[in-house]
Amino acid sequence: MSDRPLLIVVLAAGKGTRMKSATPKVLHAVAGRSMLGHVMALAGALAAVRCAVVIGPGMEEVRAEALAQDPDAQIFVQENQLGTADAVLAAREAIAAHDGDVLILYADTPLTRKPSLEAMLDVLKAGAGVAVLGFEADDPTGYGRLLTDGQGGLVAIREQKDATPAELEVRLCNSGVMGFRVGNLVSLLERIGNDNAKGEYYLTDAVEVARGDGLTGAVVTCDEEEVLGVNSPDQLAVAEGIWQRRARLEAMAGGVTMIAPETVWLAFDTQLGRDVLLEPNVFFGPGVVVEDNVEIRANCHLVGCDRKSKAGLKIAKGAKIGPYARLRPGSTLGENVHIGNFVEVKNAHMASGAKANHLTYVGDADVGEGANIGAGTIFCNYDGYNKNRCDIGAGVFIGSNSAIVAPVTIGEGAYVAAGSTITHDVKGDALAIERAQQTEKAQWAVNYRLKMSEAKSK
Ligand code: UD1
Ligand code: MG
Repeated sequence: MSDRPLLIVVLAAGKGTRMKSATPKVLHAVAGRSMLGHVMALAGALAAVRCAVVIGPGMEEVRAEALAQDPDAQIFVQENQLGTADAVLAAREAIAAHDGDVLILYADTPLTRKPSLEAMLDVLKAGAGVAVLGFEADDPTGYGRLLTDGQGGLVAIREQKDATPAELEVRLCNSGVMGFRVGNLVSLLERIGNDNAKGEYYLTDAVEVARGDGLTGAVVTCDEEEVLGVNSPDQLAVAEGIWQRRARLEAMAGGVTMIAPETVWLAFDTQLGRDVLLEPNVFFGPGVVVEDNVEIRANCHLVGCDRKSKAGLKIAKGAKIGPYARLRPGSTLGENVHIGNFVEVKNAHMASGAKANHLTYVGDADVGEGANIGAGTIFCNYDGYNKNRCDIGAGVFIGSNSAIVAPVTIGEGAYVAAGSTITHDVKGDALAIERAQQTEKAQWAVNYRLKMSEAKSK
């Protein structure tokens, strides 16, 4: 943790054309959260006093996402992409107003972990003016090389295009993450020139400028995996895979059992209690909380909230879900609720012990304790214009293949006969039947067969 106030500047100005997408690169998601969101979350985790986000002109969606992540974030527009030092200077107002450490992060690098950044803040605390997060690259091509003095001190960062053949041999590379403890960082950055192969203002040149001012540079290293930059859909999938592997391990370390962890997909905020069992092929979207001892059987899809709704999905202790269940935003399942195969629950509360075990849609409803929703029941919640709710009392028994047309209330302990279409409220402990009387014509089939076979033989 920094001993001084911390400002984090996130560079998000790139358009990311290699994503071949109408969505700006940094809004593409890993584990259900935008890459920008992941990076900004680090600012929160490090208790930064402020987060400044540098966007490109017209990137209003990115501005909106940054403010959704942190309403206090300051957004700056870099008018022309003149290089990374120029990008940081777009946030000069925030930097000039800040008295403390400054950390620069790239919004397209979503896997960096808090301990690596804390280690950087530690070297600043220990006296370095500039700290760089480096890694040993398998293939260093394209990265800036970290040139050290033999005692681990950082002398300079050399970009690929400006490097000598000897410098190109260096495998210790710049991740892009840089930290500064500099009296006047704006003035330091303003002294960076663009006399290089790309004609850009390189943030990396800050190391040499700082040394000229008598400040020292230091390197902190991390795994290459942590600083994977995403430029294309395939790299996004690689980042997702790395994120998922970490999250599964963390969940299992917390007492979750996964039969086939590589088939379970978690979201950035999935909360799983102890002794949760996840069978293969379970997908979590954002906003799902699962309490202890819940069993989620194979092939389930659970989403608590999406960009539009912050509704959440909570599954209380001892519930059994699936196989093949879909749980959607705004739902809460009480203790020991059973949701069986081919059941969808949306914006509904199922109180403890309630069951919907087969082929059912429970949408916009309150289902009381211990109620039993029979196979094939549909809650008809939508009339083409509005969503309406159903209120199902405790202990209600709904027979199979019933349609419950909202808005409707079924009183405690009532029964609904199988095959009924319920459009009126039902009183507690009553039986509602809405279907034609069954009649029986004795020997009808015998006469029918006789008549038909005679007609056919003529
Ligand atoms: C940069 C580093 C390099 C490092 C590599 C790690 C410099 C000069 N080089 O190179 O040492 O190894 O990252 O991936 O910093 N950006 C802007 N405005 C600009 C230019 C860039 O916002 O004018 C943003 C980009 O959107 C991107 C980030 O800054 O998110 C890095 O820029 P990029 O052009 O990818 O730099 P690299 O050549 O990869
Ligand atoms: Mg890059």
